[in-house]
Amino acid sequence: MHKFNPINKKKLDNEWRREVFPPKKTLELLGIEKNDTIADIGCGIGYFTIPAAEIVDINNRIYGLDISQEMLDEVEIKAESLGIKNITNVKTDEYDLKLPDNSVSFGLMVNVLHEIEDKERLLKEINRITKENGKLAIIEWKKKETKMGPPVHHRISKDEVIKLCQNNNLNVEKEFEWADSFYGVVVS
Ligand SMILES: C[S@@+](CC[C@H](N)C(=O)[O-])C[C@H]1O[C@@H](n2cnc3c(N)ncnc32)[C@H](O)[C@@H]1O
Repeated sequence: MHKFNPINKKKLDNEWRREVFPPKKTLELLGIEKNDTIADIGCGIGYFTIPAAEIVDINNRIYGLDISQEMLDEVEIKAESLGIKNITNVKTDEYDLKLPDNSVSFGLMVNVLHEIEDKERLLKEINRITKENGKLAIIEWKKKETKMGPPVHHRISKDEVIKLCQNNNLNVEKEFEWADSFYGVVVS
């Protein structure tokens, strides 16, 4: 599968993205609350990981998970410069999120699922680390030409994501759209 190249990490935070996808507002819209423990799966440079710390209680953890140490180093530097103490970065493997069972209440996966070969396997792994009654938000590029983003043939449609979730006993609670470019679902 095509993986995002850390060389392009600057693309993950720019004026356009902040306009279409304001991170804190987006997290609130998805339903993240102050008592949540969060796993940002494929957190990249922390575009959502860092603002999550403005929402959740200081005593609750936000786990920034990524297979790329280079990405995690960026999150570390930003969190330190902002004095944020409740983010823990973990270098994960493709299908091993390295967290204990039932350790998070809200999983977040933004523009990551289309990069995963065996999507069911990763969903099962997310299910393992998620507490009972926990939620997962999946956000993806719409499967059509857009101003930015990966080639259309690398993308996954909303219908495919919904089907995948339903096949894995995940109920779609909410659906979202951002401009012409992104869709999202919250499942539990
Ligand atoms: C397109 S970037 C999105 C980053 C971030 N979610 C955002 O929206 O700014 C995709 C990220 O997912 C990571 N990734 C890909 N496969 C992964 C996996 N199986 N587990 C964890 N991270 C993964 C990549 O290293 C990359 O940092």
